[in-house]
Amino acid sequence: MEEVPREAPRSPAAEALAEAAAETIVTVDSPASMQELGRRIAGLLRPGDLVLLTGELGAGKTTLTRGLGEGLGVRGAVTSPTFVIARVHPSLGDGPPLVHVDAYRLGGGLEEMEDLDLDVSLPESVVVVEWGDGKVEELSDDRLHVVIGRAVGHEEVLDDVREVALRGVGARWSGAELAALTGAAGR
Ligand SMILES: Nc1ncnc2c1ncn2[C@@H]1O[C@H](COP(=O)(O)OP(=O)(O)O)[C@@H](O)[C@H]1O
Ligand SMILES: [Mg+2]
Repeated sequence: MEEVPREAPRSPAAEALAEAAAETIVTVDSPASMQELGRRIAGLLRPGDLVLLTGELGAGKTTLTRGLGEGLGVRGAVTSPTFVIARVHPSLGDGPPLVHVDAYRLGGGLEEMEDLDLDVSLPESVVVVEWGDGKVEELSDDRLHVVIGRAVGHEEVLDDVREVALRGVGARWSGAELAALTGAAGR
């Protein structure tokens, strides 16, 4: 008879380390590379997935989402949802629609999201939320966090270089091959 290994309880510090270790960092050096990274991420996505994009204005959240839309094969140009809170892009094939949300304008989080009357089933869609941290987590226990930051060099600010940190949260993402994305658009 085999002994079932019991997991030792982990300290909060150990948990934090494990979380940090699960992060995948991809460096991209152009808008085209960011879009390509989006196309690669799209290959991992399936209906019901929630992707949270964080980063300051101009970080590249919408550029990445454009790649997601291309990868998913959806209709309509992905642009900044400046005048609307959310835009639905139906699939051109039989894949899931892309729901693109600008949570910066979504003050209230979940309830407001449900009030939007998107005329689409969120569990059957891929939902991408720009600036979603701290607002829409409760939409799903499983989510892919994507944090985009500008890379800063010693001598100069590297204008077009972005560091993209990817971290999957929840059972859906445990064992997901995020590390395979590092070869995508990296330098
Ligand atoms: N590596 C890069 N990745 C993404 N965008 C970049 C990059 N380098 C320069 N840019 C520029 O930065 C801007 C990003 O805009 P956008 O994707 O709308 O950002 P956000 O949605 O985060 O506000 C675009 O003008 C794009 O051309
Ligand atoms: Mg944007």
